[in-house]
Amino acid sequence: MISKTMTEAINKQINREFFSAYLYLAMANDATDKGFKGVANWFNVQFKEEQSHALKFAHYLQEQNAKVTLSTIDQPTLAWGDVTSMFKEALSHEKKVTAWINEIADLALIEKDHATQNMLKWFIDEQIEEEGNVTDILWMLDMCGTSKSALYLADKKLAKRE
Ligand code: FEO
Repeated sequence: MISKTMTEAINKQINREFFSAYLYLAMANDATDKGFKGVANWFNVQFKEEQSHALKFAHYLQEQNAKVTLSTIDQPTLAWGDVTSMFKEALSHEKKVTAWINEIADLALIEKDHATQNMLKWFIDEQIEEEGNVTDILWMLDMCGTSKSALYLADKKLAKRE
């Protein structure tokens, strides 16, 4: 059994993961509106990943006989100036998520909650990967500069994500 404080912290994180999903779905929709089908595909895959993160936390609570409490998901931004702005916001959002996961890890350490510490290892590794992936895309977009043909090829590359 985990503490009430830890249950609340994980429930809060479930909401944040669903918000992340919602944010990336909004980016996918805006990318579609802008004609970037590859970018839309990348964010749609990310949308599903974020839902799976929320469910992973929820299943952990249930395994610990703690209650999953779903709460209101904030409305995300709905449109961006260009696709680079989307990935910039995605990176700063992921940095926030990393900080939140670290806060829960700190709490687990204080509470000597070894089970939660162990569960969080997966998320700590995942955050390194998520920040790294978005950083790589930002480098690629930076290299495209103002070349429309380079942007077209970058979009084709992002269409391959499954
Ligand atoms: Fe679930 Fe992108 O962190």
